[in-house]
Amino acid sequence: MKSFSLLLLLVSPFSVAVNAWPNIRDAPSTTVDIQDGQTGTLMVLPPRQTDTGTKRVPDADHPFIAPGPNDMRGPCPAMNTLANYGYISRNGITSFEEIILGTEEAFNLNRDMASAMAAINMLTRGNPFVNKISIGGVSSFVPPLPGQIDGPETQGIAKHGRFEGDASITRSDVHIGDNRNFNQTLWDMDLEQLAKFGDDGPDGPATVFNVQTLIELVRQNLESDHALDPEFAIPIRRLNLVFAFLQMATKRIITSFFMNQTFPENWFRAAAPVLGSPIPAEIAAALPQWVPGRNDENGVFVADPRPPAPFNISSGCANYWDNLVNAVPGTLTDITGIFKQNVDMLTGILFNGSGCSEPIAPAGPTNV
Ligand SMILES: *[C@@H]1O[C@H](CO)[C@@H](O)[C@H](O)[C@H]1NC(C)=O
Ligand SMILES: *[C@@H]1O[C@H](CO)[C@@H](O)[C@H](O)[C@H]1NC(C)=O
Ligand SMILES: *[C@@H]1O[C@H](CO)[C@@H](O)[C@H](O)[C@H]1NC(C)=O
Ligand SMILES: *[C@@H]1O[C@H](CO)[C@@H](O)[C@H](O)[C@H]1NC(C)=O
Repeated sequence: MKSFSLLLLLVSPFSVAVNAWPNIRDAPSTTVDIQDGQTGTLMVLPPRQTDTGTKRVPDADHPFIAPGPNDMRGPCPAMNTLANYGYISRNGITSFEEIILGTEEAFNLNRDMASAMAAINMLTRGNPFVNKISIGGVSSFVPPLPGQIDGPETQGIAKHGRFEGDASITRSDVHIGDNRNFNQTLWDMDLEQLAKFGDDGPDGPATVFNVQTLIELVRQNLESDHALDPEFAIPIRRLNLVFAFLQMATKRIITSFFMNQTFPENWFRAAAPVLGSPIPAEIAAALPQWVPGRNDENGVFVADPRPPAPFNISSGCANYWDNLVNAVPGTLTDITGIFKQNVDMLTGILFNGSGCSEPIAPAGPTNV
């Protein structure tokens, strides 16, 4: 628990700092806010990192400890790895600030990217009033939203639909198999593409996932899941992630993260804060037939309707529109106090990163 308390120490000075910036919130709450028996926790966006160079990860303060039987793990290898080393809470129940600080520290993620990721996770699968989210399934540490306005349970990021989705390279679609744990069959299919298209590297011939290999992996996963999964769906928010998640790396590195949820031996984080990459656009351009859409009841792939103007100006804006209209529960528009302050900040972060000309209120379905 040492590293966890260090993170908490890092977080606490920022709650003091927020009161010095009255413009960041309409009315910073200094009183205790209790709703439906829960005590609200005001989220505070951490300042940007000052130490932004490369360094060895993990460091001595973050030893690997295998998760215990009650610790949550889920479909995201990066989150699982962060928890296995205590870059986020080892029990798999984390917070807005912890996700940002953990992904900055271990992966050198740019804060805008880290906070957008934390925001979408928290809005779709967490409890943003108490500022807790499970990186796996339902947990007794994460209560339902006050008033149960999104159903009787808060689900966690393993729950399919809003954030978790189809066509992952090492996890099955939820309607085919296990969407949380590494699937060796899928990985073997990926490795066949690597053997065909990969570059030679320090670990041997055809061990480097170059752009061509990534394109073939994505193509194979989309085609195979479209054929096997009767409820196959890749709305724009999912398709963007399928393209965006992959980077050039070696077989050894990818195996370590995706299969073992461990940092590779002798691993160094990126040399500069990570904020996007040209690779997702190259993958998208190579697969023009894969537009956002889903299988209909006859297994025929049907494109989703395009977002309405003005949300159709860019893929980033369309992604924001899809998240707000189809994934973030609409009941989050009718809340008060710290709950509202947190949700307003999270949706503000998503809007700021969207490239849209105007914001849109959450309107997604509840209890799904
Ligand atoms: C693993 O993936 C294969 C290929 O899609 C699938 O047939 C199998 O059911 C999956 N296994 C699990 C446990 O999900
Ligand atoms: C993954 O874990 C297995 C079992 O502990 C080990 O044999 C293998 O070397 C690990 N692979 C990598 C790339 O970390
Ligand atoms: C957005 O939608 C409007 C209305 O359908 C259309 O006129 C416009 O050309 C679209 N813009 C883009 C960039 O697709
Ligand atoms: C969004 O951007 C505006 C303008 O730069 C800024 O004032 C505001 O604090 C940002 N909101 C969030 C939640 O980051």
